[in-house]
Amino acid sequence: MSIRFDDRVAIVTGAGGGLGRAYALDLAKRGAKVVVNDLGAARDGAGQSDAALSVVAEIEAAGGIAMANGGSVTDYEQMVEMVAKAQEAWGGVHIVINNAGVLRDKSFAKMEPADFKFVVDVHLNGSANVTKAAWDVMRAQNYGRVLMTASSTGLYGNFGQANYGAAKLGLAGLTKTLAIEGAKNNIKVNTIAPTAGTRMTEDIFPAEAFAAFSPDKVAPAALYLVSEDAPTNMIIGAGAGVFQAAYVTLTQGALLSGDDLSPEGIAAHWAAITDRSGEMVPQNGAEQSMSILKKLQGA
Ligand code: NAI
Repeated sequence: MSIRFDDRVAIVTGAGGGLGRAYALDLAKRGAKVVVNDLGAARDGAGQSDAALSVVAEIEAAGGIAMANGGSVTDYEQMVEMVAKAQEAWGGVHIVINNAGVLRDKSFAKMEPADFKFVVDVHLNGSANVTKAAWDVMRAQNYGRVLMTASSTGLYGNFGQANYGAAKLGLAGLTKTLAIEGAKNNIKVNTIAPTAGTRMTEDIFPAEAFAAFSPDKVAPAALYLVSEDAPTNMIIGAGAGVFQAAYVTLTQGALLSGDDLSPEGIAAHWAAITDRSGEMVPQNGAEQSMSILKKLQGA
């Protein structure tokens, strides 16, 4: 069965180029009315351009429906206004893809606090701003699909990206709680961790890889994750046509008492504490607490 987005209104942030552009074009092709948000900033967040307008023109040329928004995701009021305009024009907001992003890479030793704050502000606070602006609309509609954009750096780390990694894992954390809070209103929230040849990675990827990792090889996962039958609370890796699921797991662990309830005991039982056999994937924080209780009852 083909996946369609007819009668759905989607906001894609940072959609003036790269991955966001691919998502916006594909959503529009499949019937969605798309708000193409992009400040049109340089890779480090400086400046502004009309990148959003050119993607709207592309969508319209292909027979789709779109509107441009040049607001910054860091400005909550502008995001509220963007949601209001979409609602006014098209009667709702069903999909939010938080994709806007910037880089200010440097080793932590050399990173200025301002560059740490800025990157966290665009990715993490920016995604919270847009999602918050649309949240009540989604709740009232009893329908919402939200996609956050994490990265391998957030999930697993990367030299020179402390600011970016902190923001990106924060987004996976935001996903987890919003998936729980949104469930009763049919709001599904997921995270994508893409790998794609865009201007963000142009000086990292060799030229051949750049083409193999084109954004359109990530877009199918993004579209599925905001579709009617989307799962919720998932972290999906996507790059070059390879799709993976990442989990935050928990080991069975060890219950220590007496003399073992000490730093020395932790050291002595390290192998058992970190043993991955029987690993769990808690679906909420309470499940971790329950696993502790279970361990105590088994004692
Ligand atoms: P990109 O640089 O082409 O796209 C980011 C877009 O966000 C730009 O068009 C930029 O103007 C826009 N933007 C920046 N600040 C903004 C703001 N305050 N408000 C609105 N728009 C703003 O890069 P790419 O690769 O397409 O990145 C898209 C997302 O995917 C980002 O969140 C990035 O961190 C993430 N990502 C990309 C990976 C890759 O391999 N390309 C890897 C992991 C994550």
